[in-house]
Amino acid sequence: MYVELDGQGPRYAQLIRSLKSAILEVRLAPGSRVPASRNLANELGISRNTVLAAYEQLQAEGFLHARVGSGSYVADIGNRLPAPPRVGVVPVAPLSDYARRALNASDGAFVPGHEHKGLRYNLQYGVPLTNPALASAWRREINRAVERAEFDYPDAQGLPALREQICDYLARRRGVTASADDVLVISGTQQAFALASRALLDDGDSVVLEDPHYRGARQIFAAYGARVRGVRVDDEGLVPSALPNQARLAVVTPSHQFPTGALLPLARRMELLEWAARQHCWIIEDDYDGEFRFGGRPLAALKSLDRDGRVIYIGSYSKTLFPALRLGYMVLPASLREAFRAAKWLEDRGSNTLEQAALAHFMATGGFERHLRRAAQSLRARRAAMLAGLRKHAGEALEVVDSNAGMHLTAWLRSGTHADCERLAAHARERGLGLYTVAPYSLRTAARPGLLLGYAGLPPADIEAALRLLGRCLRETGLLA
Ligand SMILES: Cc1ncc(COP(=O)(O)O)c(C=O)c1O
Repeated sequence: MYVELDGQGPRYAQLIRSLKSAILEVRLAPGSRVPASRNLANELGISRNTVLAAYEQLQAEGFLHARVGSGSYVADIGNRLPAPPRVGVVPVAPLSDYARRALNASDGAFVPGHEHKGLRYNLQYGVPLTNPALASAWRREINRAVERAEFDYPDAQGLPALREQICDYLARRRGVTASADDVLVISGTQQAFALASRALLDDGDSVVLEDPHYRGARQIFAAYGARVRGVRVDDEGLVPSALPNQARLAVVTPSHQFPTGALLPLARRMELLEWAARQHCWIIEDDYDGEFRFGGRPLAALKSLDRDGRVIYIGSYSKTLFPALRLGYMVLPASLREAFRAAKWLEDRGSNTLEQAALAHFMATGGFERHLRRAAQSLRARRAAMLAGLRKHAGEALEVVDSNAGMHLTAWLRSGTHADCERLAAHARERGLGLYTVAPYSLRTAARPGLLLGYAGLPPADIEAALRLLGRCLRETGLLA
């Protein structure tokens, strides 16, 4: 008999573990005799008493039974070798419609970064701006929060101290007036979309998305079973005259259209609000990077114009701090507060208390805004390197949309097809450059082929080198003379 001790803890416990797994895995069949204690002790180089003690324990637990004068036998505990899997058979319990749609919508892309191995430079949107000063400041805040922590369940709506800070911040920086009661702390924008699906949508309701748009929104509403409809976007953002006649919810990015970068003018904002009032439709304002503007006129959030209580404002700390934090917030119209709070409570009982407390203190003591100023400086330098590099190495092939904000730019191919753009991205990848097309962000075939270029994750010198490589790739694929 093959018995192996794992070396962890007392020998008698090791032997019990080893025999139990042999019985449970049916390497020792029901009814078979286990070796005499003396033999097993010799084989394993342990004392006979240890073996006897282990056998006794296994008898007491019902794994073995002793027959007087003839030794110990493996009990029949109904343990059988599993039947070999039958190929091509439908699982016993089929998945729900939701699970099938979720699998379909998410493309299995659960671990970011796995496709970036081997890249020298990665111009992917969404890679965070990292900064050692933030890491040490955050470590201090977390330590402080742990020392003062309350270990009970949190307030599902969010820590009051954090909600107060969010209100103060929004009033000063985004023109949004809200009370702490209007704020719901969530685990990022993605949870806001999930809660909105549950709280606002019934089967088959229509959700309007800008086209192109943020894929995270489309995926979750599609998985939920909503009818997702795209509305055209031009150089000024969403085109209100293209809005449909019937919708339950519209998701918009007025401060920095994702991904084109357009800033929605005031007149269009008013048209959008009037449309929503006529349709009895809710609006989600996704203000994902409204903090980072590098010139031009900052416009207050759409929420600041909302007189009818139709706009749900979402802010996320994924861009201002880092995505691993998984914290964000919603500012809800009074009529929705209770329903969203209930949905959040049922979903996860509230967001992580320690991180909320750390963040509240970071905001209250000015650390957060100091960090934002530093981050804006770094992003400004990266953006300048991106614009200069694109002009120098790719200007004749790419038309750049300079949106004066955020962490990314879009660049349209001056001539060429979607297939050319895909070919360029594939070639760049072979050369070690991560390059991403705009096409996957559209419901319908995008009007123009283009690239979505993220610049937060690389220092200026790397951005310059990456764009030199882009220029070479454009020439090698025949898209630049
Ligand atoms: C348009 C848009 N909205 C929201 C987010 C943030 O999502 P989350 O808060 O779930 O990290 C992002 C991040 O990339 C984004 O691009």
